[in-house]
Amino acid sequence: MSLVLLTHPLPEDWIASLRGRVELLIGPESPVGFSPELLERLPEAEGLLTLLTDRVDEALLARAPRLRVVSNMAVGVDNVDVAACTRRGIPVGNTPGVLADATADLTLALLLAAARGIFQAAADARQGRWTTWSPTGWLGADLAGAVVGIVGMGQIGRAVARRVHGFGARIVYVNPSPRPQVEAVLGAERVPLERLLRESDFVTLHCPLNAETRHLIDADALRAMKPTAVLVNAARGAVVDTTALVQALRERWIAAAALDVTDPEPLPPEHPLYHLPNCLITPHIGSATHGTRRRMAEIACENLLAGLEGRRLPHCVNPEVYDEG
Ligand code: GLV
Repeated sequence: MSLVLLTHPLPEDWIASLRGRVELLIGPESPVGFSPELLERLPEAEGLLTLLTDRVDEALLARAPRLRVVSNMAVGVDNVDVAACTRRGIPVGNTPGVLADATADLTLALLLAAARGIFQAAADARQGRWTTWSPTGWLGADLAGAVVGIVGMGQIGRAVARRVHGFGARIVYVNPSPRPQVEAVLGAERVPLERLLRESDFVTLHCPLNAETRHLIDADALRAMKPTAVLVNAARGAVVDTTALVQALRERWIAAAALDVTDPEPLPPEHPLYHLPNCLITPHIGSATHGTRRRMAEIACENLLAGLEGRRLPHCVNPEVYDEG
């Protein structure tokens, strides 16, 4: 049986399809990444089932000459050196689609929480500062009639677009290619990033992290946004320049940020972002619903088994590996 390294324990019923079909070596709950025990068996491993917290780089691959598949239990694969895998003819699997609704729901929760100051308002109520109904107390922003700028119109971006359209917002978006369907059905308009930043009341990020998108939201981008705007990031932390964001929130270049992802991740507890009243942070929970995480694990297992059995991965991010052989 092929040896598979799973870097972190997963519920048994999520990975049931692997039992009896592979030899599974499972890493510890913590720390994250490849434990010494897993690294020791790397030379024999034919499959890796990884999380987004595991780095699969050239150095790791060099120690795994028998490797035939890398299956990442995430839609994002920025933790994997995909080009290095491709050079070795190793297919890389991901888990798209199934997490779009859960991530879009979380995005709306963050966006609305930031727009309406929910965390501060709830803390005020709990701590006895709700002494009367105040006509001017706890005022926030409307989503109906607002302009929502969506950066990245993939499956998650589209799920966010459907939701904000339902709330009565107007949508502008940035994407490498036009999306005729969202334009026809939701009235979304594809615009240059510079215009999206200038016009949007909410800017929400749903692009992959790569060389083009790293620090896409830098100091210049933040300065271009409205002083009343809210930034939401449920993509990858490094799409935003964290240092610039701290300054932007402190000096009120923008009104607020709501982040499900940060750079670094997690942020150290003393990080200034945790201490800014206009910044809301959740611990990378976009896909964290029972049903979604289970489905992601099942798809990761399907990709893994396909790779080991020499079949095409149902969800492969480097399909060119099949053209070359
Ligand atoms: C989560 O961030 C994912 O990429 O699946």
